[in-house]
Amino acid sequence: MTVSTGDRVLVTGAASGLGLSLVTQLLERGCRVLATDVHLDLPSGLAALPGRLTYRQLDVRSDDDWTSTLAWVRQTWGGIDLVVNNAGVASGGRVDLTTSESWDWITQINLLGVARGCRTFAAMLKEQRSGQILNTASAAGLVHPPRMTEYAAVKAGVVALSESLRWELEPYGVGVAVICPSFFRTNLADSIRSADPSASESARKLIEGSGRSADTIAADVLRQLDAGKSVILPDRDARVAYAAKRFAPWLYRAMMLRTARQAAADEEAAGGARRAGARVSS
Ligand SMILES: NC(=O)c1ccc[n+]([C@@H]2O[C@H](COP(=O)([O-])OP(=O)(O)OC[C@H]3O[C@@H](n4cnc5c(N)ncnc54)[C@H](O)[C@@H]3O)[C@@H](O)[C@H]2O)c1
Repeated sequence: MTVSTGDRVLVTGAASGLGLSLVTQLLERGCRVLATDVHLDLPSGLAALPGRLTYRQLDVRSDDDWTSTLAWVRQTWGGIDLVVNNAGVASGGRVDLTTSESWDWITQINLLGVARGCRTFAAMLKEQRSGQILNTASAAGLVHPPRMTEYAAVKAGVVALSESLRWELEPYGVGVAVICPSFFRTNLADSIRSADPSASESARKLIEGSGRSADTIAADVLRQLDAGKSVILPDRDARVAYAAKRFAPWLYRAMMLRTARQAAADEEAAGGARRAGARVSS
């Protein structure tokens, strides 16, 4: 289903990164855009954009925020053509350093935030018998590298939710697609909560050192959405990793084991250095 002039679009996590790039490109297409994010005031990146843009605060963890957003959409637009559940945060590191709080935090935003968006707008979309939902997952939702248990689990949840919902809404003429990119440059590293500094640092390096920009990813996402793709892999790294898992499992296993063993060796070395330091100071 193509996204075109006049379409009414809601985007979550729109103040930065992929959300901001999607808003920019949707406005360029002539869409009417309701950009939302956690911030109360209009974020600076959105303020300068030309086009039919409205900003509202929407914390994807808040049922009340979703209810009032739905009311705004109903009252102002009388319906919706595209709901983009994009807001997200990041985590990473050894599973033994994760906590119930860290699992709850990322689940509430990255998985239940998407689920709330789908639940809130499903009835309206079904009634219209038109429109679509676009959920942002990650390549980590399809391939699951070591030391990313929390992030991989919630993103795999978004992939599963999106497929299940795609079948559910298809009879009503409503589309559902999911985005699964590899690392690209955004402010995502600033959101990382992790008790494992080495994992946070390597995630930061991968995000901030990526050769891909959010603009490039957004352009590819919209191209693939127009082409009717339901699982959108917007970059080569994501496509290669997913293909390796499905068609060359021995290669996938070798890649994952190499990464895991290197991380385990680094951890042992750091532990040894800490123990030696403790002996010297005692
Ligand atoms: N950057 C990457 O390498 C990468 C790779 C794969 C998937 N993703 C996914 O892309 C999506 C967008 O992330 P990004 O990379 O553009 O990062 P970003 O940090 O630049 O943007 C994320 C946005 O989400 C907002 N947000 C965070 N918590 C929120 C909440 N509770 N309610 C509403 N908004 C909230 C932030 O304020 C921010 O504006 C995320 O779902 C992320 O997991 C990113």
